Amino acid sequence: MSLSAMSARLSGKTVLITGASSGIGRATAFEFSRTAPDIKLILTARRIDTLREIAAQIEGESQGRTKVLPVMLDVADQKQVAEFVGSSLPEEWRAVDVLVNNAGLVKGVDKVGEIKDEDINIMITTNVLGLINLTQQILRLFHARGSKGDIINIGSIAGREPYAGGAIYCASKAAVRSFSDSLRKELIATRIRVMEIDPGQVETEFSVVRFYGDKKKADAVYQGVDPLTPEDIAEVVVFVAGRRENVVVADTLIFPSHQAGAGVMHRKST
Ligand SMILES: NC(=O)c1ccc[n+]([C@@H]2O[C@H](COP(=O)([O-])OP(=O)(O)OC[C@H]3O[C@@H](n4cnc5c(N)ncnc54)[C@H](OP(=O)(O)O)[C@@H]3O)[C@@H](O)[C@H]2O)c1
Repeated sequence: MSLSAMSARLSGKTVLITGASSGIGRATAFEFSRTAPDIKLILTARRIDTLREIAAQIEGESQGRTKVLPVMLDVADQKQVAEFVGSSLPEEWRAVDVLVNNAGLVKGVDKVGEIKDEDINIMITTNVLGLINLTQQILRLFHARGSKGDIINIGSIAGREPYAGGAIYCASKAAVRSFSDSLRKELIATRIRVMEIDPGQVETEFSVVRFYGDKKKADAVYQGVDPLTPEDIAEVVVFVAGRRENVVVADTLIFPSHQAGAGVMHRKST
């Protein structure tokens, strides 16, 4: 069976995905395996049991062609990130070709002055510092192998259009966007591609996390609208990674059809 150009380009690569236990990260892991079964996936998140289940599902579905390494990694913990790349990542998994910086979260809808310290802390350490620290570590591996590789950062429409009740999350995603843009310029003489994907509304565990586990409040966010699925974003992640090495899909903004901005949403009345 002949492979599509995209499958052929991705075959044999090693892809590291953060936040692979749920939502966009999980869907991206499946999409890579379905597009190029002979791929190696390093799946990281805090929920290791969930990652192990996903690893078993992907290995089963690909009939053992996709090799999966599930790793417990809290990206907000700088020491863990440094140890993971610096020493604990096994030799046969160190040739990372693609880093998908997807782990991220939002907490609450409080206005500035009322925001809980722990919410500020976890959003900034995860969405900003975690992404920066892991990128720094993986860049060393990329440079050691001829300055080649892909960095795919999951930003958000929130990083482009800040909204009331999201000051910290929006600022964190604006930081991701700015970091991506600086890095792309710094790496212009290399074959390292920096690609940012900014989703609009996607139905995942994102809103459940925002409302501290309150499923009713989370469900209300998606009432009367038709949000993107995690697979919709996963397809874009795999597409950008699967371009010819001279093609950099630098910046992508993806909405469901009822959305045209951070707060610009058409809701069907029920
Ligand atoms: N859903 C949306 O509407 C939307 C829109 C724009 C952008 N995004 C962005 O898309 C990305 C993925 O979110 P999602 O919608 O797929 O939400 P999700 O279903 O809640 O998934 C978030 C993932 O991030 C992981 N994570 C959170 N904190 C972490 C930490 N400290 N260390 C390691 N992993 C951590 C979670 O795993 P563990 O809990 O197991 O650690 C989980 O796998 C995020 O960066 C988010 O900001 C989402």
